[in-house]
Amino acid sequence: MAKVETPKEDFRLIKEEGIWQAPDWASVELAPNAAQIRYGRELVAHTSEYLGPKGKVLQISNGMNCQNCHLEAGTAPLGNNFSGVAANYPKVRSRSGLTEGIPKRINDCFERSLNGQGLDPEGKEMKAMVAYMQWLGKDVPKGERPLGVGLYSVPLLERPADPIRGKAVYDMQCFSCHGTEGQGLKAASGTAYLYPPLWGPDSYNNGAGLFRLSKFSGYVKANMPLGATYERPLLSDVEAWDLAAYVNSQSRPAKDLSEDWPDFSKKPMDHPFGPYSDDFSEEEHKYGPFQPILAVKQ
Ligand code: HEC
Ligand code: HEC
Repeated sequence: MAKVETPKEDFRLIKEEGIWQAPDWASVELAPNAAQIRYGRELVAHTSEYLGPKGKVLQISNGMNCQNCHLEAGTAPLGNNFSGVAANYPKVRSRSGLTEGIPKRINDCFERSLNGQGLDPEGKEMKAMVAYMQWLGKDVPKGERPLGVGLYSVPLLERPADPIRGKAVYDMQCFSCHGTEGQGLKAASGTAYLYPPLWGPDSYNNGAGLFRLSKFSGYVKANMPLGATYERPLLSDVEAWDLAAYVNSQSRPAKDLSEDWPDFSKKPMDHPFGPYSDDFSEEEHKYGPFQPILAVKQ
């Protein structure tokens, strides 16, 4: 739990110590498997063209691209980048209670964030994506999580995150791209989104990482509205939490989560489905306030 309770990346620290940078893309040509790595990046950036509802390889996902959430093909600082993947998998994950390699983790995002089906772990597409992530993280020492990895953790609020206030922020700052119904906007090609959906039938499902308010708030704080960065955020912490509450209280696909968290004492503070090993309600676990929950966990 220690990981989510405080910002794991302090913006000032990052400025002083330097943030992870992806290897120079041009240098991919030096890799013996350059073609495979390039295909892997292409699949991350344009997933829907290949694997979406009208995908030219398979039709196994909802039309979103990995890059919609893993910005710049998983290379953006605090844009949910893949810098720590090669160095940290396989690892035991409490959500499944299993040791997971990179293919299993990728398929988790297919089944949850892209509300679809996983790829064959031995197939060409999976091998290409894994090769790309291994290349991206090739200079990161085993077990290390570089500065700027993954998502920012927004400091906790003292009150519950508030969907009503979140809607007010959404109507000002988000709806112009993501739509009044959170439906996003399809690109002219019809095979991908210009602006991806935030809720509704074509969005991530309730088992996805972004369905947790801490992850959603961290993603938007450092990356949204489009143009925001960790150095130049455009939302306050409060706005980021309230937006997370609003967007994640709208309807979206549901996944059977009954096999998740076999040891439910390991559920994160903001996992919104019981049973729990504490006395807080599902509502409290969804919206907070989270300090009292963390205090009991310690
Ligand atoms: C709707 C948003 C979304 C989409 C789309 C998405 N992901 Fe993710 N992904 C996440 C979130 C959130 C996390 C967890 C980040 C965290 O815990 O810090 C994550 C984590 C991961 C991780 C583990 C990273 C780590 O350092 O442990 C991998 C690998 C990954 N995703 C691959 C993919 C791939 C490949 C695709 C496309 C098939 C994809 N994701 C699509 C949101 C998304
Ligand atoms: C100018 C258009 C624009 C605005 C305004 C904007 N977004 Fe986005 N948003 C995007 C684009 C484009 C992406 C996908 C980025 C990519 O693929 O590189 C995205 C991705 C996302 C994602 C991850 C993908 C998904 O569909 O779940 C979330 C969450 C998100 N935006 C939330 C917000 C919120 C909340 C706001 C308001 C504070 C906002 N955005 C404002 C354009 C915008």
